[in-house]
Amino acid sequence: MKITIIGAGNMGGAIARGLAKGTIFAENEITCTTKSNATLEKLRSTNPQMNLTPDNIRAVAGADIILFAVKPWLMKEVIEQVKPYLAPDRSQIYISVAAGIPCQQLEEWIESYNVIRVIPNTAIEIGESMTFITASDLSMPQIGIVGKIFSELGNTMIVPESQLAACTALASCGIAFAMRYIQASAQGGVEIGIKASDAQKIVEHTVIGAAKLLLAKEAHPAVEIDKVTTPGGITIRGLNEMEHAGFSSAVIRGLKECVK
Ligand SMILES: NC(=O)c1ccc[n+]([C@@H]2O[C@H](COP(=O)([O-])OP(=O)(O)OC[C@H]3O[C@@H](n4cnc5c(N)ncnc54)[C@H](OP(=O)(O)O)[C@@H]3O)[C@@H](O)[C@H]2O)c1
Repeated sequence: MKITIIGAGNMGGAIARGLAKGTIFAENEITCTTKSNATLEKLRSTNPQMNLTPDNIRAVAGADIILFAVKPWLMKEVIEQVKPYLAPDRSQIYISVAAGIPCQQLEEWIESYNVIRVIPNTAIEIGESMTFITASDLSMPQIGIVGKIFSELGNTMIVPESQLAACTALASCGIAFAMRYIQASAQGGVEIGIKASDAQKIVEHTVIGAAKLLLAKEAHPAVEIDKVTTPGGITIRGLNEMEHAGFSSAVIRGLKECVK
């Protein structure tokens, strides 16, 4: 199976590098394009066997899967450029990672229903993305293939397109919220006497541990919080003080702002 990634920048490049480490595509079955040679050269230094070219038209020839990863405002132009060179029966799978362009619009531009939207987050760089997959018809068999591909780059969830914006707020914006919690905790750690680099490492591992614990036990956070909050103890005092300052409310309001 061959995949072509049009626009191998931050997101497209991370997908390409991740897939090259996986089992579905050999490195030489991955073709990437960018606008400038400089970005291609960066990819060449890490993945010398990838097919790297600035020529989108040459790149789509013979591909089974074409993944568009240019900025949203360039999508129409790039699709129009390669459209005459796509399989005439549109038997390829067309994936878009562009935020904000609905399936129906992509289907019109590509003139195919084999269109799947995928929204990863930046943890794709280390194979830990929370990736959402959607299409106009969620029963199409191509969804399974795309799910397998993105499972090599982290976790995946198939969602109706109507929920994509909310899911993006939780995972793509949410990664920044989680990092802000880490930053704030580490800052607090310094004030209570831990050196900055240690404080950050402590909080990072604490957050990883908390998430893994909930995932492994399929537990509700309140159940696990209950276990560490001794009556009259320091954890409940700390938690309540955070709530008095509006912690949960601030997180919920921030998320709601993302989908306005
Ligand atoms: N970053 C994220 O967290 C994230 C998450 C989900 C979805 N996305 C989506 O991913 C897409 C790309 O975002 P990004 O952050 O990766 O942007 P980016 O780093 O700027 O990457 C875009 C790439 O497209 C290339 N490009 C521009 N015009 C082109 C053309 N005509 N033909 C071929 N390649 C072309 C650019 O090449 P040069 O490098 O040579 O300029 C660049 O490498 C966007 O649609 C965004 O909505 C991003």
